[in-house]
Amino acid sequence: MTHIIDNITLGALVIVRDKMMAQQAAGRKVYRLEVGDTNFDVPAHVQQAITAAMQSGKTHYPPSTGLPQLRSAMLKKLREENGLPIKDADHVLVTIGGMHGLYMAFTALLEPGDEVILPDPMWSEIAELIKRPGGVPVPITLRADRGFLYDPADIEAAITPRTKAIYINSPQNPIGVVFTAETQRQIAALAEAHNLWVISDEAYEHVIFDGQKHFSIGSIPAIADRTITAYTFSKTYAMTGLRLGYLTANDDVIIDRCRKLLRLTTNGVPSITQWGGVAALTGPQDAVKAMMTELEARRNLFMDGLQTIKAFDSFKPGGAFYVWSKISEAWPGYDGRRDSWAMTNYLIDKGGIGTSPGVAFGPSGEGYVRFAFTLDRQTLTESIEVMQDLFK
Ligand SMILES: Cc1ncc(COP(=O)(O)O)c(C=O)c1O
Repeated sequence: MTHIIDNITLGALVIVRDKMMAQQAAGRKVYRLEVGDTNFDVPAHVQQAITAAMQSGKTHYPPSTGLPQLRSAMLKKLREENGLPIKDADHVLVTIGGMHGLYMAFTALLEPGDEVILPDPMWSEIAELIKRPGGVPVPITLRADRGFLYDPADIEAAITPRTKAIYINSPQNPIGVVFTAETQRQIAALAEAHNLWVISDEAYEHVIFDGQKHFSIGSIPAIADRTITAYTFSKTYAMTGLRLGYLTANDDVIIDRCRKLLRLTTNGVPSITQWGGVAALTGPQDAVKAMMTELEARRNLFMDGLQTIKAFDSFKPGGAFYVWSKISEAWPGYDGRRDSWAMTNYLIDKGGIGTSPGVAFGPSGEGYVRFAFTLDRQTLTESIEVMQDLFK
């Protein structure tokens, strides 16, 4: 019998990253448009808080569930900003980034054979996290002709007696689509009617454009107690490498299981990172605003550029920092192939341009590639010029 972990894949994106890093090391000019990590620095006051924590000896074991100061700051933010009716700080757990929170959420919730509905395409780690405790991912195709809607009618049709939860991610990776409050209300109504859990991944809650407001599904009273929500400092504060996130749920059994998982996995997040987190949440938010304004400018610049390239038909993202581009039927292909891996290899080999093959995000992603606009405007402009040349 195969071990359960042997059914999990490490992900295609690792292949692209390794290829790009090898080219970079060989001295080639490359454009890392595959990377979901902005080039911004951590806000200055957060850096200072981390340094001060280190220098003042705040380097001993923190509680495995997180520093009380950080958990209260998180609770305040969750209640005031996200509108989540979280009972108290005991129902907020500090995690190693969003990934760790999601790992615990699926592990605490699922038993072998439990089904979880999720969008397809989706950041591929989600399906793997569902499979880890023996769960079964049930993909719902997000269709271009419906504006990549996570369609409540499709979700309802996919519900079976084994369905345990609906996973939602807005703004979404890889498409950058933002699910409206109305769509989320309809999804919440399904969860209520069918007695399902909702796992809401709000990693990109602040990376949202055109004046839209982020909506947290757990703020809907009818499902507030059956929702588990995961957050991260990675995208909002450019703290990807510091690995800080948090998970919240009102359900005592889920929280109790997650406390045990925390104890047995990381036994807590590095103390100095947590002190940085306190400064990030309680300090000024101007740096976040500035980063998001810059990301919107990058989105506009990159979208305008992509529209001049006939090889792609691109979706304008309302949030997150990715552009989802359909490969044109007119593209002749590379090495006798026309799929998303062929385009990815073509862009890397011929242009030094990193991208992610759509199929890496699920079967519905075939025929697409995902570009990240996380680099500075000058580099993005140059990458567009390289592509204009490649596809002229
Ligand atoms: C949809 C989604 N959720 C969660 C995460 C978790 O990120 P991290 O573990 O860096 O907080 C990511 C990272 O790319 C993501 O794209």
